[in-house]
Amino acid sequence: MDLVNANTFLLVILSLIACGGSSAINSTNSSPRPNKGAYWPSWSIDFPPSSIDTTLFTHVYYAFLSPDNVTFRFEIDYPTALSLKNFTTTLHKKKPSIKTLFSIGGATEGSKIFSHMALGHDSRKNFICSTIKVARKFDFDGFDLDWEFPQTPTDMVNFRHLLHEWRVAVKKEAKLSGRPQLLLSAATYYKPEITLDGVYRKYPVTSINKNLDWINAMCYDYHGSWNRTATGAHAALYDPNSNVSTSYGLQSWIKARIQRDKLVMGLPLYGRTWQLKDPSLYGIGAPAVDVGPGIEGQMSYADVEKFNAQNNAIVVFDLSTVSIYSVEGTSWIGYDDVRSVKLKTEYARRLQIGGYFFWAVNGDQDWKISRQDPIVKSRKGPEK
Ligand SMILES: *[C@@H]1O[C@H](CO)[C@@H](O)[C@H](O)[C@H]1NC(C)=O
Ligand SMILES: *[C@@H]1O[C@H](CO)[C@@H](O)[C@H](O)[C@H]1NC(C)=O
Ligand SMILES: *[C@@H]1O[C@H](CO)[C@@H](O)[C@H](O)[C@H]1NC(C)=O
Ligand SMILES: *[C@@H]1O[C@H](CO)[C@@H](O)[C@H](O)[C@H]1NC(C)=O
Ligand SMILES: *[C@@H]1O[C@H](CO)[C@@H](O)[C@H](O)[C@H]1NC(C)=O
Repeated sequence: MDLVNANTFLLVILSLIACGGSSAINSTNSSPRPNKGAYWPSWSIDFPPSSIDTTLFTHVYYAFLSPDNVTFRFEIDYPTALSLKNFTTTLHKKKPSIKTLFSIGGATEGSKIFSHMALGHDSRKNFICSTIKVARKFDFDGFDLDWEFPQTPTDMVNFRHLLHEWRVAVKKEAKLSGRPQLLLSAATYYKPEITLDGVYRKYPVTSINKNLDWINAMCYDYHGSWNRTATGAHAALYDPNSNVSTSYGLQSWIKARIQRDKLVMGLPLYGRTWQLKDPSLYGIGAPAVDVGPGIEGQMSYADVEKFNAQNNAIVVFDLSTVSIYSVEGTSWIGYDDVRSVKLKTEYARRLQIGGYFFWAVNGDQDWKISRQDPIVKSRKGPEK
């Protein structure tokens, strides 16, 4: 059943009108500050939206939706429609001021579909129209583009076109419907310049400032199962030996002149694991031979704490990276806990950036990490 195509007449008319124009407009941000976000994986059946402690967050993201790979419109089946409606209804009921966004894409979806969509004006338009329809139909406050990652300089140019046209459409729709503008964010690489696969490309920062309400910089996954030869602090705030770190990423965004209040720092509620080559060599960067416990070398923070307790693991706080690791035999887990997250959010406050977000909301143990004081100070700006 295609609920989106079976839309009401009014919505169709609105979106047709809404997608016509092309004048340059600045974004207006009616979003709460600081931005304290969390992604909800829609496949986490043991953790329904009603389990989310909404007092801890200003923004919650439904992860993920993907458009059809030919029409670039969203084809929402019946179970997904129920899940979307349940998400927004439940969260808004618990906390009317909370902002709900649906996140588009994600790591599993990858890049190809977005490269194709962003390539042409018509496909961008179809995509944009459909995002607005879905948001209004299911009572979302906005959407979040999770394109992981633009692959080439051409992709970045098309990404820029997309952001511009998306903002124009969102602004027009708001005018026509008399409702607040839908929020528009994007999850990005931890730094503005990407050199993966030997191809250099840079995010269009000027366009981001102009058209997006904020970006969620994914400040994690610096090390992982794709390299099993050494342990690593996958979300290190600092790295004494390289630039692969959260501090370098955030500073680079600022150097590239992102508006500080539009920069939101990612925090992982999961660890990454390795199997040590030699249990007596267990520092960060120690030789490893495989991934360790968990699923594909990944484990939620709650599961890490369980693992540590059950196995009486050694737990080390590493000040040089601001990260934690635990060791039991040849099992090694690098992760964030209350201490490292506290230092990171303090770091974010000193940088005067917009806030922080978690991947993912169901990873915490009794909200221990998420309920850290709202350390990123409130700044001037319209509040709703
Ligand atoms: C957008 O904002 C910038 C800086 O605040 C301003 O210089 C520019 O004129 C604005 N553009 C539009 C189209 O309002
Ligand atoms: C679209 O997705 C389907 C199903 O996953 C796949 O078989 C097909 O090759 C894809 N088409 C394009 C153009 O990527
Ligand atoms: C959401 O779904 C749950 C079951 O998963 C149900 O108990 C609850 O009543 C639903 N809430 C709304 C607002 O639809
Ligand atoms: C794997 O990680 C180690 C330690 O960070 C690094 O020295 C090595 O170059 C990496 N290997 C590959 C293939 O990236
Ligand atoms: C880190 O980045 C700085 C400037 O961006 C550069 O000068 C330096 O060589 C880099 N260091 C490493 C280890 O790559």
